[in-house]
Amino acid sequence: MKLIVAVDRNWAIGKDGDQLVYIPEDLKRFKALTTGHPVILGRKTLATFPGGRPLKGRRNLILSRDPAFAPEGAEVFRDLEALLAAAPEDSFVIGGASVYAALLDVCSAACVTKIARAFPEADCFFPDLDARPDWHIEEEGPELEDQGVRFRYVTYRRT
Ligand SMILES: NC(=O)c1ccc[n+]([C@@H]2O[C@H](COP(=O)([O-])OP(=O)(O)OC[C@H]3O[C@@H](n4cnc5c(N)ncnc54)[C@H](OP(=O)(O)O)[C@@H]3O)[C@@H](O)[C@H]2O)c1
Repeated sequence: MKLIVAVDRNWAIGKDGDQLVYIPEDLKRFKALTTGHPVILGRKTLATFPGGRPLKGRRNLILSRDPAFAPEGAEVFRDLEALLAAAPEDSFVIGGASVYAALLDVCSAACVTKIARAFPEADCFFPDLDARPDWHIEEEGPELEDQGVRFRYVTYRRT
């Protein structure tokens, strides 16, 4: 299982229930990497998608403890155990903070978009993989820029 995330300089990933910034090039890459694979996400991250609808071209495996939550076109799991029993190995964990934290230790790779700025107003974070001895950088791409936002793609592996 892999995860994919966009972080700022402080490993922040969101504010007020939404992304810190939308980078069109990064969204294209997200689509290219995840299409054809199941995606695993929390109920709050689903709410950030257009119309609150599941992503097309992918099985959407959603975590929620709410028994009444049954969005069309998605599979809902009430706990991690049920999710992990159903999730294929080629799944991508796509957030948010609570789901990344819960599944980090079962992921073997992390596709991280590192945004070259800090968002002091951020209110949710991803674990700092540079500070974790069980994760190392496998590949680091060049700095890119899209609509004035500088970023790079970094692949981490769990040792
Ligand atoms: N930068 C990025 O790459 C990126 C990617 C994705 C999301 N984000 C950001 O992350 C933030 C959302 O993160 P979040 O942590 O607040 O929400 P989240 O992880 O998206 O969703 C949390 C919800 O998922 C369900 N859930 C989580 N763990 C569960 C478990 N073990 N069993 C059953 N259900 C479980 C619960 O739903 P119920 O309340 O329905 O029970 C919980 O309230 C937003 O700001 C979003 O924009 C950033």
